[in-house]
Amino acid sequence: MNVIIVCLCLCFYFTTAKVVGPSIVTTETTVAASNAADVVKATTTNATSSVQSTIAATPQKPTPSRSFAHEARLDEDGAYWLFWDSNETHVTFETHVKTRGYVGFGLSGNGQMFPGDVIVGWVKDGVTHFKDCHTVAHVMPKEDDSQDWVLLHGEENDFGTILRFTRKLDTCDDDDFKITDDTIRVIFSYHPDDPVHITSLPWHGVARRGSRALLLLSATSASAVTMPADLQSFGFVKTNYHVPSAGTTYHCSTFRLPNLNQKHHMIKYEPYVQKGNEKHVHHIVLYFYDREIDRQYDNLNFDCTKGKSTPEALRGMRSIFLVWAVGGGTYYLPEHVGIPLGTSDDPKFFVMETHYDNPTRKTDIVDSSGIIISYTTQIRQHDAGMIYAGSRVSPRQIVPPYEKAFVTRSYCPEECLDQTLPDEGVKVFAVFQHAHLLGTAIKTRHFRNGTELEPFANDKHYDFDFQDIRAKKHEISIQKGDSVSVECTYDSRYKTKPTFGGISTQEEMCVSMLLFYPRTKLNGCVSSPKFEAINTNNSYLAVETMKQWDWSLPSVRRHFKSILAETDYDMICTRIHMNHLHYTKKRIVPTTTYREPRGNCPTQ
Ligand SMILES: *[C@@H]1O[C@H](CO)[C@@H](O)[C@H](O)[C@H]1NC(C)=O
Ligand SMILES: *[C@@H]1O[C@H](CO)[C@@H](O)[C@H](O)[C@H]1NC(C)=O
Ligand SMILES: *[C@@H]1O[C@H](CO)[C@@H](O)[C@H](O)[C@H]1NC(C)=O
Ligand SMILES: *[C@@H]1O[C@H](CO)[C@@H](O)[C@H](O)[C@H]1NC(C)=O
Repeated sequence: MNVIIVCLCLCFYFTTAKVVGPSIVTTETTVAASNAADVVKATTTNATSSVQSTIAATPQKPTPSRSFAHEARLDEDGAYWLFWDSNETHVTFETHVKTRGYVGFGLSGNGQMFPGDVIVGWVKDGVTHFKDCHTVAHVMPKEDDSQDWVLLHGEENDFGTILRFTRKLDTCDDDDFKITDDTIRVIFSYHPDDPVHITSLPWHGVARRGSRALLLLSATSASAVTMPADLQSFGFVKTNYHVPSAGTTYHCSTFRLPNLNQKHHMIKYEPYVQKGNEKHVHHIVLYFYDREIDRQYDNLNFDCTKGKSTPEALRGMRSIFLVWAVGGGTYYLPEHVGIPLGTSDDPKFFVMETHYDNPTRKTDIVDSSGIIISYTTQIRQHDAGMIYAGSRVSPRQIVPPYEKAFVTRSYCPEECLDQTLPDEGVKVFAVFQHAHLLGTAIKTRHFRNGTELEPFANDKHYDFDFQDIRAKKHEISIQKGDSVSVECTYDSRYKTKPTFGGISTQEEMCVSMLLFYPRTKLNGCVSSPKFEAINTNNSYLAVETMKQWDWSLPSVRRHFKSILAETDYDMICTRIHMNHLHYTKKRIVPTTTYREPRGNCPTQ
């Protein structure tokens, strides 16, 4: 049954935006998998300011005392704000907290209050008190012998208490946390009263504390980029989709970009997540097709959890255009790059795949979330491209159970980058790494002629609940003949069966998206182990055989690891508008591995 709905109104968050596109006509297709109405809107609007202001209907933001590159609201209520920037050696923070009592702030590997590296500060009678402390248990923090966090400024104003302080990334003090490009948990607390002394802090209670994962060193900039006046936006947004009660749903909607008539550059994109659904909208992948798709496929909605209800014409090759996942914010491209739109070479037809997580099997989730892209005719210096590297999404990715740190590796071979990159190479300016629930660390490695170079990204504290694009402070050049390996580390101690690669949260993934310029034909480079030792002719039958194994036996798991070490890999290099390149090769092992620069600490 098909219903045509003419949506006369723009959705609520566009209400203040001027519409520059045609009126919106949406087609609703009722699909078997979801008995609910589901409308997808395609909207073009001049959303220079209104989208921002209405989406970010966040509590009143305090004004920092100077401009900072990054900012985050740490609590739900907007009582605790953090502003920060970093350079090669230091991070400088400024906290604005709605209190006239004390403020606690710190860094932690696991998000717990203990162990943590914390500061406590308060302003009393015009004097700022500030101490570098560490937590020794879930009790009051202890003052560090070495005071390495340095107070720059403290005051009380109409908002509350402001503290500005700085710290070396590595203070060389064992009581301090080393600040790296890992996902870092900041922890915070506050109290309405000043303490009499640092040793007699009143307890903050459960409501006035929390933690939040952040990328302190490679967060995308909140405000640095100025937006051109002709900025336009397009919303890839669902309307009132009734999320099924299944634990995991992938729901797909198709969109066609309005005709832009000339080349544009997309310069930012932002999530639009319906309030209240933050826990359910897990991630969104926007794919594009580089072939013509008939207009009959415009504005369709279908369940794509299994892929069976995907229309025939939309199966097969498609490429990732952008990714947003839980925890991510607005992404601004660097000022010298834009993602091209509007010419005959550029994507026009998109499928948005929204991953809904519904562990408690709710039946009343109705969602209107999506992604809003913004673009301009003011063309920037470079056209950006994206490459998807990692494990091919396939049951051939196997994570054995009972393992504390099992590593899955995938390879993009020299031949692929040799044949697809321009002579001068490309420059990577951002990286997005993704795994599912078992993932604890992800690293995107870079090899050149046998030598391992600095990794594109190396997150030793991957957090599924916090995923964001890493904006590289320094662009990394990839040359012809380089190779890339993506490594994901999984903790499967609480699993009793192997976990296979797949799209649902309960299955695993291991991918890394590199954003680079100039754009090339290169689009993806993924691999899967062949397991020829188990079945010489058919890797999928090899997987079927391994499913029968008793994985609780350590000897079986050791055997599996030795097979992985020896197996050939199928490596696939995908190119836009061109055939795929296939290679069968052994794993890539550099002769020289990368060593992180030594710290400057005397004892290290
Ligand atoms: C880095 O920041 C710290 C703290 O603001 C400052 O003292 C230092 O001079 C800065 N270093 C460079 C190279 O700018
Ligand atoms: C978009 O809105 C801004 C601010 O209202 C305005 O200055 C600009 O001219 C508009 N652009 C277009 C393309 O309508
Ligand atoms: C690669 O390494 C080999 C052996 O170390 C060396 O002979 C060759 O010149 C190198 N090639 C390039 C392009 O650096
Ligand atoms: C693989 O294929 C070859 C040739 O078709 C056949 O002789 C052999 O039995 C097959 N091996 C397995 C394990 O199926």
